[in-house]
Amino acid sequence: MNFIIETYGCQMNVADSELITSILITAGYKHTVDMDQADIIIFNTCSIREHAEVRVIGRIANEVSRKINNKNLLVGIVGCMAQRLGEELHKINKKIDFVVGVDQYLKLPEIINAKIGSTNIEFNTDEIYTNLFPVRSESHNAFITIMRGCDNYCSYCIVPYTRGRERSRPVKEILNEVKQSISENKFEITLLGQNVNSYNHEGNDFPDLLKKVNEIDGLKRIRFITSHPKDLSDKLIETMATCEKVCEHVHLPMQSGNSEILNRMNRKYTSEHYRDLIKKLRQAMPNIAITTDVIAGFPGESEEQFLDTYNMMKEIQFDFAFMFKYSERSGTKAIEFNDSVPEEVRLERLQRLIDQQCEITTQVYKSRIGREEEIYVECVSKKNKEEISGKTKDFKITVFEGDETMINKFVKVKIIDATGWTLKGRLL
Ligand code: SAH
Ligand code: SF4
Ligand code: F3S
Repeated sequence: MNFIIETYGCQMNVADSELITSILITAGYKHTVDMDQADIIIFNTCSIREHAEVRVIGRIANEVSRKINNKNLLVGIVGCMAQRLGEELHKINKKIDFVVGVDQYLKLPEIINAKIGSTNIEFNTDEIYTNLFPVRSESHNAFITIMRGCDNYCSYCIVPYTRGRERSRPVKEILNEVKQSISENKFEITLLGQNVNSYNHEGNDFPDLLKKVNEIDGLKRIRFITSHPKDLSDKLIETMATCEKVCEHVHLPMQSGNSEILNRMNRKYTSEHYRDLIKKLRQAMPNIAITTDVIAGFPGESEEQFLDTYNMMKEIQFDFAFMFKYSERSGTKAIEFNDSVPEEVRLERLQRLIDQQCEITTQVYKSRIGREEEIYVECVSKKNKEEISGKTKDFKITVFEGDETMINKFVKVKIIDATGWTLKGRLL
């Protein structure tokens, strides 16, 4: 039987889809990327905002209609929405065959074999999926899960409820996965966790892990997401600055520029602390790229408090920002706050943030003109077949004239232009 996985949400879900692919292939199923060839369709879902759920429910409804012409087709839901809604998903769409939560993926072959409508969503905090080598979906970069779950309980966030308790995977296992990825000619890795800064396994913290990964022969670039400002230590900053393979980029979600709102978000840091971190990072690595996540219209956010966020983004000049309007998630703490910001105000604030950040990003990118950069080439450019595309060490997409033979290689270019969020280079 052929299976296809459609993945939504964050890189953790991308990594989990690679894990599921490995589990199913080992059990004798065949992977396809063509819906028409699939006997099993799996949706790996996200619950982070309401919109994410609504969208995938629509997609599921669309694809289950294939059952009319293909009586044996199985449709399964996995990931965060499966975990959150469980049995209820069978009611939302009666054609769904199985619902499997984030700690139950090893049971998938058995569940698929049973071919009966089922729900398996028990949490298993021991589950870290040991000794499985995910089937990677990217040609050059390997996502490597270093921890699962989240214990931070930011008051707006559903993740602690959909991913369960935080657990770190053993150092040895992570190093093995990195080595395996290099043997598959992937010279860049991204270490994944909801808060990688709190990684801890048998006394090894995240900087210790980075140092060990940095020593692996053949590896060229190390990235990691996501960092939580409350746990980003001086030791980590020093380690980033001294490990030559660690890319000069940090994704450090700010969420808000107002300490009172941050407190209500249960983020456990102040805007002063965040500013301080930015200063330290830039002192240690003058060229570091800093990206962030921000939420507009959190309950109780006044215009003044919003302006603290707006102004702080202007002050810091992030290379890039993911900006969201607050979305109520049932079961979270913030749902109990009864001072919600009207929907149209949330939208309007979000738009102001986006407009400002667009200008900042354009300026930051333009400031790179004239620099020499190393590019890890990923593919032929989609817009122009004469051009190839890759990323700088600080995570900026760069296109330049070149050919297919350069794919998966590191080349030097000079940045000659910046249009929107893409750099244009000339091969050196
Ligand atoms: N673990 C990471 C990212 C989690 S989800 C971290 O701690 O930063 C990615 C982003 O989605 C968050 O940083 C936050 O900005 C946003 N987000 C999470 N819950 C949200 C909600 N209920 N409404 C709007 N945005 C939300
Ligand atoms: Fe959600 Fe906060 Fe955990 Fe990030 S750290 S996943 S925002 S609870
Ligand atoms: Fe979404 Fe789950 Fe990731 S809720 S953002 S897929 S951890």
